[in-house]
Amino acid sequence: MSDLSPADVAKRAAALRAAEFVEDGMRVGLGTGSTAAFLVRRLGERVRDEGLRLRCVPTSEATARLADEVGIEVVALDEVGWLDLTIDGADEADGELSLIKGGGGALLREKIVACASDRVVIIADGAKDVAALGAFPLPVEVIPFGWQATKRLIEEMLVGLDVGGREVVLRERGGAPFVTDEGNRILDLRLQRIGDARGLALRLNQIPGVVENGLFIDIADTLVLGFEDGRVEVR
Ligand code: 5RP
Repeated sequence: MSDLSPADVAKRAAALRAAEFVEDGMRVGLGTGSTAAFLVRRLGERVRDEGLRLRCVPTSEATARLADEVGIEVVALDEVGWLDLTIDGADEADGELSLIKGGGGALLREKIVACASDRVVIIADGAKDVAALGAFPLPVEVIPFGWQATKRLIEEMLVGLDVGGREVVLRERGGAPFVTDEGNRILDLRLQRIGDARGLALRLNQIPGVVENGLFIDIADTLVLGFEDGRVEVR
């Protein structure tokens, strides 16, 4: 009997299905988070059991450590230049495959890696499938210098927009500011509802101090959803 929680059964089901998209010789981007961890472990098994030859670019230090642990060859994005496929998780996905990502704080490398890929496959449990983005707080990566001024500019920008909430919160971990792999900070935007995700993504990236936002629009090609009964749906 599996000792996985129902949510983990769903995440694992999506990850195992997506692992089948990976072929010998591919350059693969590896996402970050608990769903992506199931994928990395499965690819490690395929490398060991099938002799699959892969060169993989992890989207975080945590994923790099896990990939290394399970015997996957880890390379820098600049070593391979471009990727055949990236498989990553998400915090929310809507019907057009627009996403909110960055719950794990890796959105910057995740977006760079995804945008340098021929194909992007998103893996998630069914609960991440939403009619409209916004219930999950939108992560925005900002540089530490002057982050409070950046936060204020974001708050002022939000005033004129069609969103459900406007609270902006500095992410903390263990009572201290959360620090990303690039040494930056994360501001979580509690918007509840995002009227125009594309417009918001563009506006955010125009604010000085903002490095990148967690809205992934026109980036994902395929969504693989897993469910608690082990079913998988590919969109
Ligand atoms: C990390 C991410 C993750 O893909 C996202 O948070 C989903 O994580 P999980 O698979 O643990 O639910 O964007 O920055």
